[in-house]
Amino acid sequence: MHRVTFVELFNHHITQKYVKRSGMAHAIACAYHALQLAKQYGVDPDLATKAAFLHDIGHYTWYRNGSWDYDLYKENDIHAIKGAERAHKLLIRLGEHPKKAKEIALAILLHTDSYLPDGKLELSPLQKVVALADEADEEPKGRHHYRTISDEKALEALHRLDQLIVKALQEHDLYQKTV
Ligand SMILES: [Fe+2]
Ligand SMILES: [Fe+2]
Repeated sequence: MHRVTFVELFNHHITQKYVKRSGMAHAIACAYHALQLAKQYGVDPDLATKAAFLHDIGHYTWYRNGSWDYDLYKENDIHAIKGAERAHKLLIRLGEHPKKAKEIALAILLHTDSYLPDGKLELSPLQKVVALADEADEEPKGRHHYRTISDEKALEALHRLDQLIVKALQEHDLYQKTV
């Protein structure tokens, strides 16, 4: 089955609209962190990087009188829920296997617990990798959402990521067969 590539994902208008809204540079940095973490945790690198790249696709803009209202955001934010659904729809449209699309959507749903009632969640290794990849790129006061990257540089980084994942997938399959 054809692997949906990052270049395909990047070129889709939904990605252009919503991943850019929450920060393309943050998304790409998280995907690269996820690739390293996937190796450490022995999880599928394709799932981990896609979930990390799309984890903030559900962000909404919380403006009051023309400027971002952080309190309004904190109180009402459901970007992980919205993002899980939006990423799932996008992946299915691009031809992703439904099983993979579901795993990615779930990891996005659980990448933060800020919107959930207090309690402890038992995360799967994939979900943990995605949450850690996000944390690894976080800056104080949400500044990571505002770092920018040109389309050209973004495409270059994502094309390179596709190549690294194909390599990592071969290693991952080999590893899976020997354990
Ligand atoms: Fe997030
Ligand atoms: Fe994030």
